[in-house]
Amino acid sequence: MDEKKKMKVLVVDDELPLLEVMQDILRELGYHCIGASDGLEALDVVRSTPDIDIVISDIKMPRLSGLNLVKTLSEERPDIITIIMTGYIDSDILVSVLRAGAYDFLPKPYDARAITMILERSVEKRRVVLENERLLEELKKANRKLTKQQKMLEQKVLASDKTLQKKYQELRFINDVMKTINSSLDFNETIHYILEVVREVLSATTVSVMLLDDEKRYLTVIDGIGDTTGFIGERVRVGEGVAGWVAKNNKPLLVKDTGDEGLPVELQSERNSYSASSFISIPLVTIKKGVIGVLNVTNKEDGKSFNEEELDVLKIFSEQAAIDIENTIIYEELESYYLQTVRALSKAIEAKDVYTRGHSERVTIFALELAREIGYSDEQLRNLELAGILHDIGKIGVPVHILTKPGKLTDIEFDQMKRHPVIGEEIIKDIKFLESCRMIIRNHHERMDGRGYPDGVLGSEIPEEVRIMTIADAFDAMTSDRPYRAALPVDEAVRRLRHDSGTQFDKKLVEIFVNNVVPKMH
Ligand SMILES: [Fe+2]
Repeated sequence: MDEKKKMKVLVVDDELPLLEVMQDILRELGYHCIGASDGLEALDVVRSTPDIDIVISDIKMPRLSGLNLVKTLSEERPDIITIIMTGYIDSDILVSVLRAGAYDFLPKPYDARAITMILERSVEKRRVVLENERLLEELKKANRKLTKQQKMLEQKVLASDKTLQKKYQELRFINDVMKTINSSLDFNETIHYILEVVREVLSATTVSVMLLDDEKRYLTVIDGIGDTTGFIGERVRVGEGVAGWVAKNNKPLLVKDTGDEGLPVELQSERNSYSASSFISIPLVTIKKGVIGVLNVTNKEDGKSFNEEELDVLKIFSEQAAIDIENTIIYEELESYYLQTVRALSKAIEAKDVYTRGHSERVTIFALELAREIGYSDEQLRNLELAGILHDIGKIGVPVHILTKPGKLTDIEFDQMKRHPVIGEEIIKDIKFLESCRMIIRNHHERMDGRGYPDGVLGSEIPEEVRIMTIADAFDAMTSDRPYRAALPVDEAVRRLRHDSGTQFDKKLVEIFVNNVVPKMH
């Protein structure tokens, strides 16, 4: 369902005709919409209607103004997204609107395009707020349940076998991969949007944002607008140059003219090397981590200098940017917590099934090689990597005597074994960053002719990644020892892959695998 259909918007305006027009527009756009004729009435509505998502309010109203409404709401209900409508925008109004806690502002008279755009952004923001709340709640719950279990498993598994060190490395490797995956917060988009607004409001020629590394030794430019040729990705050491000074001292720096004496003593000597004439650099600070980066604004379009008022405006934007960045950091921590959980589960499987030791690692290598042969992007490769490591995670739910049984499985036992893809999907299904692995985990035992499990779908109807995984999985299973038979020679495994191509495996992929991947591996 469309996100906005679920969002409830409260419009506040004392001019009734305008209120009605706005409500009509919003309903037309598909939002659920209610109205209030001033700030006080709006507060009553919010207090008695807990599922309001967004409030759009006029600025000037009797009894309680839009600004005071937003201020009260940001204390009582910080999860609600507030937008202020105003006839004219200058930096004074902007500062007071943003300082009151509003997320955005909407110029009057209404322009349907602006409304659509701002509302879409607000809906996205609200979705993130709700998603974060939900995730946090879920995590707390899961954490309590799993901490105990995890400790027990770790002790048992580590004591049982030294080769598990290898598994540890494998899992640490997933962790590293995860760190490089973008969070779902559209963090880059948010930062870029802030930069765009800052540039417009301050009429600056160039704006950029730099982030500190974990050791707080270097700042790296992560985004910029304007004369940015070549500077994204550039690094400076903390303590060096303007941005380095700002990060080190946790103080903003407004320089009206690089020729003047406003520069701190440490920077006086290098002032001749500045290409900018006027600039503001401001630290990005979060409660949890202190300074996390620097926001830079350089040269005004009209050649004049930046002033103190503009520094104030920038302070507000830097606060918002810092919050967005902090959210991303929290999200990353959530991801890493989930990974720990998955780790414990992987270890548990390892402890149960000695025959599959190293299986998922090898399957991953085969799958990645095959995917590289057909030109997968880095992101697709990363997903495949994770799915490879996790594809058999559902075996945690299969009794150990079945996993390690030396003879043929009975029908009942085989049925239990066949549940592992579904159990695996169940384990990871709420983990947002593993979303793209879901299908691979669930369907890695499907066949091209539709006779696989659990869904019995035709191979042509399942994504290519799944078909890649199936080949990699089968090849490793054939070429390694199993409780019921010794490893098959590579030639025999290749023969079987070819024999079953078209029925069990994707014909084209088998040929690429046999011709290009197998020779490299053996
Ligand atoms: Fe499997």
